[in-house]
Amino acid sequence: MPRLRLRLLLLLLLLLLLLPPPRLGASHASPPDGALELLQGLRERLREVTALSRRYWAHLRCRVWPEDCDGDKEARASSLGWSLPLLGQQYLDILTSWYCSFQDCCGSGDCRISNNLTGLASDLSRRLHGQHLARELVLTSVRGYLELPRPHKALALSFHGWSGTGKNFVARLLAENLFRDGLRSDCVKVFIATFHFPHLKYVDLYQGQLTDQVRKTQERCPQTLFIFDEAEKLHPGLLEALRPHLEGQDPENPRVQSRRTIFLFLSNLGGSVINEAVLNLLKAGWSREDIQLEHLGPQLQAEIAKSTDSGFGHSHLVREDLIDFFVPFLPLEFRHVRLCARDAFLSQELVYTEAALDQVAKMMAYVPKEEQLFSSQGCKSISQRINYFLP
Ligand SMILES: *[C@@H]1O[C@H](CO)[C@@H](O)[C@H](O)[C@H]1NC(C)=O
Repeated sequence: MPRLRLRLLLLLLLLLLLLPPPRLGASHASPPDGALELLQGLRERLREVTALSRRYWAHLRCRVWPEDCDGDKEARASSLGWSLPLLGQQYLDILTSWYCSFQDCCGSGDCRISNNLTGLASDLSRRLHGQHLARELVLTSVRGYLELPRPHKALALSFHGWSGTGKNFVARLLAENLFRDGLRSDCVKVFIATFHFPHLKYVDLYQGQLTDQVRKTQERCPQTLFIFDEAEKLHPGLLEALRPHLEGQDPENPRVQSRRTIFLFLSNLGGSVINEAVLNLLKAGWSREDIQLEHLGPQLQAEIAKSTDSGFGHSHLVREDLIDFFVPFLPLEFRHVRLCARDAFLSQELVYTEAALDQVAKMMAYVPKEEQLFSSQGCKSISQRINYFLP
């Protein structure tokens, strides 16, 4: 660390020396000629260095701008007695905007967190097809949670449905609208049960790693999102390790309490129960959009709780009501698959014909055998399938 610190300080001083002195009366918006190109080059270098020591930069910034960082008391206490007039306010402004262009300090609060609920609402209604229940439930629960001034616990949502119905897609939309860098954000972690925790015999090890990652992410960000894909395959021991974090009490770290944390559990548990219920209602003459949560919720919850082959159903999370909402994803019909195909063409900026959309949608298998109502793969891998129709 001392070497890194020295290098960073040297780099900073070098930067200051290389800039021509600020002209009095010059506007902040127009830094001296040549400075911008210079900054661009140095910025690239610094990006590499700062990737290594993001935290250190925040610390350094606090030393230079003590009023900027009420959180970092230690840094403030040890503030280098640099005086701002000495450095020149103009330099500082240039440096601040440059630093903030790739760091976490813009405007008010933390610019890694965007919480664009308008964007979320618009994405859920325009880009998610055939999921009126999920759209409504996800938007209201997330909006309600983000509006709480001091949440006492995490928000936990459990997504259920067949593959290809949009569970991962909604998780991504949430990440993209709540965090500037989407799924790649420092504040977002994705765990895939069979990928991150594949071996039964290492459950103890995974428990430690998981708790550690959750805690570190929470320390790094005031708002975090944790996504667990294939939740039905998570070992009960791992779910148990998550429990204190869902309850909002991390015994070893009271500091992260009352931060905003969202947990998403994605699984196909209960998918068949949802499909059966929807099929029955449709056959009874209901329109899909009239199906409400109360028509599916109780059956879904009962099915999850009694699923003997899944740690998730049997976990304390489900049994102790730590999951706030069970979100059903309905099986998709031909018209929804067509919409997915249209989106896929549009996102690749390709022209399409109505006939092509029909053809793509027809490539999917539909079940049950008799009614042929629901796409058995939902909208999965539609974007690969449109490749057959390219000119
Ligand atoms: C929120 O999302 C909408 C739609 O995607 C977008 O037009 C708008 O610019 C976003 N707002 C902010 C503040 O990023």
